[in-house]
Amino acid sequence: MKIILIAFYLLALASSLSTVPLKSMYQCSCVNAMVQTDCLGEYCVWDSNTSKCSNRDCTVFLKDDCEGVPDTFNCIWNSTSNKCESFKKCSDYTFTLGNSQNCNEKLIKCEPDLDSIDSKAGTIKCKDSTQDAFLSIDNCNYLPYDACYWFVTPNGQQCLQNKTTEKCEPKTITKCSDYTSDNCNLLACYWNGTICTELTCSIIPEDECYWFYSVDLKSVNFCSLNGSSCVDLDVSALSQTQCLESTFFTYAWNTDSKKCEICVTDSDSNSNMILYGSILLAMILLQ
Ligand SMILES: *[C@@H]1O[C@H](CO)[C@@H](O)[C@H](O)[C@H]1NC(C)=O
Ligand SMILES: *[C@@H]1O[C@H](CO)[C@@H](O)[C@H](O)[C@H]1NC(C)=O
Ligand SMILES: *[C@@H]1O[C@H](CO)[C@@H](O)[C@H](O)[C@H]1NC(C)=O
Ligand SMILES: *[C@@H]1O[C@H](CO)[C@@H](O)[C@H](O)[C@H]1NC(C)=O
Ligand SMILES: *[C@@H]1O[C@H](CO)[C@@H](O)[C@H](O)[C@H]1NC(C)=O
Repeated sequence: MKIILIAFYLLALASSLSTVPLKSMYQCSCVNAMVQTDCLGEYCVWDSNTSKCSNRDCTVFLKDDCEGVPDTFNCIWNSTSNKCESFKKCSDYTFTLGNSQNCNEKLIKCEPDLDSIDSKAGTIKCKDSTQDAFLSIDNCNYLPYDACYWFVTPNGQQCLQNKTTEKCEPKTITKCSDYTSDNCNLLACYWNGTICTELTCSIIPEDECYWFYSVDLKSVNFCSLNGSSCVDLDVSALSQTQCLESTFFTYAWNTDSKKCEICVTDSDSNSNMILYGSILLAMILLQ
């Protein structure tokens, strides 16, 4: 019983932080809206017969919504047909070498497939992502120099341009000041004068006050406006109507607990249980 209580305490603690692992971001869907008022009409449809909310079909979305809806909608903008389509698999997509990051940015859990480079055509295909980092890649060796920005390798290094050799090289980065003068990672850092410095919500302008990445590109920190200043999002203070939208479909309102709670898939909750299990074990061993 004591163990269960500790586990619940840890879960509650984890769910009120403004930082979430990247793999938890955008994981809610309209199904998580348990009442009609939460079933956001732009993206969801409410079935009054069954009192269930479901995702709208990709085909109804224009470009911005198509690219903006959470991963669970599985929508991809096809710029050839100018239509919003259902995403099937990473390997269906080919980009020019200089746009390799489109595999990570435009698709869902994909990364550039370095074995698929066609240097004659100047193209690269995508494959399933091998790790939960934004801009993940297997290694830096074959990444075109022009596309060599902040990709994360499986051992946690980042691919960076070496201006002297004009090669794409892996480098160990643990903080913003590890970046050299010209490759400051603006997804996680900003220029304070000439020093590449960790971003905080308070640095972010009002009209861009959404979130920023951790330096390892494996988690995101949510921000929100308080008046005209950008501050850390306090998830525990969100009301029912704010929960889904303020967290970009990462948390949803649980009408039973009356709290804004993180949406996790089954595989996530298994790994969370393993994580909490090992924290518990550590706590017991430390006593
Ligand atoms: C709800 O039920 C009514 C009556 O059975 C039916 O006519 C209607 O099409 C149903 N609506 C939906 C959205 O399924
Ligand atoms: C995009 O649309 C074009 C034209 O309809 C189609 O040929 C192509 O297969 C689509 N691309 C993907 C990746 O589905
Ligand atoms: C670029 O490569 C040169 C030669 O290998 C090396 O001496 C230098 O430290 C590298 N620069 C960076 C920023 O890693
Ligand atoms: C930015 O740099 C200035 C001058 O070096 C320093 O005084 C200030 O504390 C820095 N700001 C942050 C947020 O680190
Ligand atoms: C918002 O600003 C007000 C006034 O400065 C302050 O009292 C309040 O605690 C702030 N709220 C958050 C969530 O930071």
